[in-house]
Amino acid sequence: MTETLTGTNRSAGVAYTQLLADDSHPVPEYLLRDSPIEEGEPTLVPVERYTSREWHDLEVEKIWKRVWQMACHEDDIPDVGDYLRYDVASLSFLVVRTAEEEFKAYYNACLHRGRMLRQEDGKRARDLRCAYHGWTWNLDGSLKEIPCQWDFPYVNTDEVSLPEVKVARWGGFVFINPDPDAEPFEDFVGDLADHFTLLPYEKRYKEAHVAKVLRCNWKVAQEAFMEAYHVVATHPQILAGICDANSKYDVFGNYARAITPNGVPSPHLSNVPQEEPLPDTSAFKMRHPLTNAIYDTQPDSTVLVTHPDGRSGVFTAGGTWVSGDLGDADPHMCQWLAGKQLEADDEYWNNRRGNGASEDDGDDIPADDIAAESAADELDKRMEQLGLVGDGPTGSVREIGAAAMRDGLRPVLGDLVDSVPDAELNDSIYFTLFPNFHPWGSFNRIVYRFRPNGNNPDESIMECLYLAPYPLDGERPPAAPIHWIDVDDDWTEASELGMLARVFNQDTYNLPRVQLGLHATKWDHVQFGNYGETKIRHFHKLLEAWMARE
Ligand code: FES
Ligand SMILES: [Fe+2]
Repeated sequence: MTETLTGTNRSAGVAYTQLLADDSHPVPEYLLRDSPIEEGEPTLVPVERYTSREWHDLEVEKIWKRVWQMACHEDDIPDVGDYLRYDVASLSFLVVRTAEEEFKAYYNACLHRGRMLRQEDGKRARDLRCAYHGWTWNLDGSLKEIPCQWDFPYVNTDEVSLPEVKVARWGGFVFINPDPDAEPFEDFVGDLADHFTLLPYEKRYKEAHVAKVLRCNWKVAQEAFMEAYHVVATHPQILAGICDANSKYDVFGNYARAITPNGVPSPHLSNVPQEEPLPDTSAFKMRHPLTNAIYDTQPDSTVLVTHPDGRSGVFTAGGTWVSGDLGDADPHMCQWLAGKQLEADDEYWNNRRGNGASEDDGDDIPADDIAAESAADELDKRMEQLGLVGDGPTGSVREIGAAAMRDGLRPVLGDLVDSVPDAELNDSIYFTLFPNFHPWGSFNRIVYRFRPNGNNPDESIMECLYLAPYPLDGERPPAAPIHWIDVDDDWTEASELGMLARVFNQDTYNLPRVQLGLHATKWDHVQFGNYGETKIRHFHKLLEAWMARE
């Protein structure tokens, strides 16, 4: 592993404030906000927080029954009478559009003998009728009918309205809170909306929504998406275009922000000898940016790895040694190159394996062409390009990239694009609103949500939503339905995610192994970097405060 300067109090490389100062466009005030987390606790947190059923049960009582949480997008239930089932741990709620501009949320349980009122989402209901004995409520929660009501003389019909939970709206999302004494949502969310002033969520639509069960605790899952510290080991293929170790992290009340610059090479590469670029660059043959070993995918989906010292070995797509005198390879590189690919890439392999055109046909398809054919849109292509950028002049790479993005967005957003700084168009800007809502910056599209899967502390549900812009003078397109992929499915099953699906494969290659390691470890705690893991420390600080509440 190559290191940046060690023993120093900050990473080598450019400071984010310098990148903002060099921006070709005016930088809005919110990007300049500087609010670092204070040093100190928590940097160590107990392992049982991720593994024990007792802790999980306490989280249900202290967090999920009391906190504001994103339940759905308003466009998931566009018509009056539409409803959506929102579950977290063992809790279940129904979010109902009760009028054009009104939402209510109820406990998803019948007041007769407790049957779940609705097991699925539904459309244009006039009322909510329990499928067991037929007790029925109006959309506003008032009782409509009890079959054989004469047999329930003690039931006061005015008192059997469906119990409601609190509802709030933010940026087109519906938040709920089961705690009747909860603080107002506006106080809870604070000034988060300030960071989306250029292109608020209300001006975007839900373009994609993918959900998947992961075999790890919900906190293990979301913590993999709250820092850029893991990029050097987990996503080495993008190091040339991402300034991972120079990310900026800030905390603001109940939310935290990370900004990872793109279009600037990683400081981890500063001590790596620069080799000549490979003559036949394809998307499936790459030089490892840290070791300079060449990873070359073979037609049988193994990877031939050749180290600069001459040793070589063959490895599976999962990084397992098959043959050769080289014993170690980077599993994430193997997986990136030889793991499941997007559709356009499959075409390449069909050609190369002789199932399509001649064997040599695909050999030198440049990566850019493959990206162009993939489901990835402008933003993804931009990231792809940046991942392949060498060490050209820093400012110009960011400027050129931003200019290309503005061109791509102009047909949709018009002249608004001229007020968007390079930073917003280049950088990964990712927020976490406690406990589990992760909206990215306005021009990043991504929103994540993570939650426990039932009462199993070893499983979680991860969702990735794309909130994309649409023409400012146009109608908001309908929301994409939720696309569930199976726990063992590869993320590329969700081709609507584009290249991000392959990046997720690298992230989720780690996650079940983290959970297994947490059960196996002799240590009783995990630990976080003071600054680079700011968002995780901030999360645990809030978590501890919530868990300590009476
Ligand atoms: S349980 Fe719902 S009507 Fe009986
Ligand atoms: Fe990642």
